[in-house]
Amino acid sequence: MIVDCDPGHDDALALLLAAGDPRARLLGVTTVAGNQTLDKTTRNALRVLALAGVRDVPVAAGCDRPLVGELTVAEDIHGASGLDGPDLDVPVAEVVGVHAVELMRRLITDAAEPVTVVATGPLTNVALLLRRHPEVMPGIGRIVFMGGSTERGNTTPYGEFNIVTDPEAADIVLRSGLPLTMIGLNVTHQAPATGEIIDEFRGMGTRLGAICAELMMFFAATYHRVFGFEHPPVHDPIAVARVLDPSIVRTVAAPVSIELAGAFTRGATVVDLHHRTGRPSNVDVAVGLDVDAFWRLLLAAVRALGR
Ligand code: BDR
Ligand code: CA
Repeated sequence: MIVDCDPGHDDALALLLAAGDPRARLLGVTTVAGNQTLDKTTRNALRVLALAGVRDVPVAAGCDRPLVGELTVAEDIHGASGLDGPDLDVPVAEVVGVHAVELMRRLITDAAEPVTVVATGPLTNVALLLRRHPEVMPGIGRIVFMGGSTERGNTTPYGEFNIVTDPEAADIVLRSGLPLTMIGLNVTHQAPATGEIIDEFRGMGTRLGAICAELMMFFAATYHRVFGFEHPPVHDPIAVARVLDPSIVRTVAAPVSIELAGAFTRGATVVDLHHRTGRPSNVDVAVGLDVDAFWRLLLAAVRALGR
């Protein structure tokens, strides 16, 4: 898989899952502006991979703003660095000298098997890849993205952050005809990092475990302040988990459109769960989560990384 991300506390856990699970083959990591500016999300991806001891996975920086309009970051949730909380002081590797879209093109072209693209940030890089290099589409087995919701939003009443940040990019991806899986807030809100989960991280007795615990404590504080949630939901690693063990996330096929024009609903994912529109299904939409199996997978991956 390729992970395209904007770390971000939950993106960090998604990277650790992709790096630490024995079944995962992480071909590359690409970064996009979203939770913070591109320079910060890129530095955060490099820091997380360095802390995880991952040295042989290329990292490339991608788009620094959405396809249309200006970037609005999620500093209220992820802090000024995009990954506030723990001390993440670690020597980092360099990014490769090509744009994220070019790295994705090369990795997909060179792969012996179809590649899964896991997107845990705004879909800007992925949309640009499909527009500039449509020839790679047969090499993409599936795009699994964290974004949207079958219910309400978290950034506007009906819009989820990744989709609201770049609705045009999401629209391009959803109309691509590629196999798509949407991991929306309706399932990610089922996986809060409770006190017991934070204790599990801390109990690993490693620096990485302690960092995960501190990341979740910072995330808990901002989620409590902004949303009044008792525990913070970890969205992004669920997209990686779905790829590693599909039984963890139950999906149904449905037509999904992105609202581009709504005065109050721009960036909403319009999910026709009851097939009332007569449109063809274009997305496998997550509707259920095996919460215990998900946490077992994630904790085991972080444990396996040691450090
Ligand atoms: C999504 O928005 C970001 O803040 C998180 O990293 C996640 O990808 C949740 O809406
Ligand atoms: Ca993210």
